[in-house]
Amino acid sequence: MPTAPNPNVLISASDLEKRVHELGRTLARDYAGKDLLCVGILKGSFLFFADLVRATDLPLEIDFLGASSYGNNLSSSGVVKFTLDLGRSIENRHVLLIEDIVDTGNTMQYLVETLKLRNPASLKLCTLLLKPNKLKTKMPIDYVGFKIEDKFVIGYGMDAAEKYRNLGYIGYLE
Ligand code: IMP
Ligand code: MG
Repeated sequence: MPTAPNPNVLISASDLEKRVHELGRTLARDYAGKDLLCVGILKGSFLFFADLVRATDLPLEIDFLGASSYGNNLSSSGVVKFTLDLGRSIENRHVLLIEDIVDTGNTMQYLVETLKLRNPASLKLCTLLLKPNKLKTKMPIDYVGFKIEDKFVIGYGMDAAEKYRNLGYIGYLE
């Protein structure tokens, strides 16, 4: 397994696996009988997304959105750039947006406002990580994997200047 130069572990691979399976069971219960479309926000959610949909025993469909927030490498600016749009219409679909981490909430808020204009039947949000102390928006987040303290985290999809996305655990940089 690849390691970071300073591998401070915040959430181990086995704790991630346990929590992702719990979330999958919750989604399977909440969306039973509904036609669910899971939308992963690239790039950060790619590993969480892959594990979560496999833990969700439903005949769901998947799609992806690419978003990147302008800013320096370690903090987001609130200006969001779409790098990839959805492949298909979401009109009348039950859409679940799946993110790696919500920090200020700017990215999620922007995506929600944009997607609501496309008239989904429902639009809910799921994030693996939430930094409650940094959150600036009032938007409700329906599913949260872990609430974490205000540290810059890497791994399990998340990067620092595009590195460390392939770590199997969540670490943090000092
Ligand atoms: P927000 O718009 O401030 O909520 O930031 C959201 C985006 O910034 C996330 O989707 C991540 O791509 C990135 N981000 C925020 N905090 C971290 C972090 O601690 N590590 C890695 N990326 C982060
Ligand atoms: Mg992200």
